[in-house]
Amino acid sequence: MNLDISKANHNEFLPIDLLLLADPSEEMIERYRNSGETYLAKIDGDLVGGFILSPISQEEIEIKNIAVYEPFQKQGFGKELMKYAIRTAKMEAYKRIIVKTANSSQYQIEFYKKLKFNLESVIKGHFMKYYKKPILENGEEAIDQMVFMRLL
Ligand code: COA
Repeated sequence: MNLDISKANHNEFLPIDLLLLADPSEEMIERYRNSGETYLAKIDGDLVGGFILSPISQEEIEIKNIAVYEPFQKQGFGKELMKYAIRTAKMEAYKRIIVKTANSSQYQIEFYKKLKFNLESVIKGHFMKYYKKPILENGEEAIDQMVFMRLL
């Protein structure tokens, strides 16, 4: 199965059901949805995943809301998306790429570590402050935001 990743045209977007896999708050999604370029991943023309690349400064860019639809997860596509994001950021001359997740997102934390991202900082209480409903993952509550960084 060939994954085709490309920058979205002005009339293409990531559907809300995909965005909600990575972030349970529609309110938060609306805040950053247009903060950068959207990338779509398709197989035979069907959308299977995507992400947003959102510049923070001239030197730093953030991967936001990376997600792969469930039937396509754990087959290497997430990794391909991350590698594409890293290559794109490098080509655009950024020096650092970051990705943020929750203390409770153990699978995602391992996923980012395997892609050579290191924990840079922890934003204490982020999810208590900005999310109206508690987020539970495998019985653990999302409280702190974990910022992972890779040098480019
Ligand atoms: N069971 C458990 N882990 C497995 C697995 C399985 N059957 N198959 C693969 N993995 C693990 C492996 O560690 C693999 O690395 P490896 O190269 O050492 O084997 C790693 O997952 C990467 O797998 P990959 O298949 O590329 O990831 P993915 O396509 O599932 O994408 C996410 C990863 C996080 C994008 C995807 O799970 C997802 O969309 N999740 C929901 C949205 C989300 O949480 N986004 C991030 C918000 S912070």
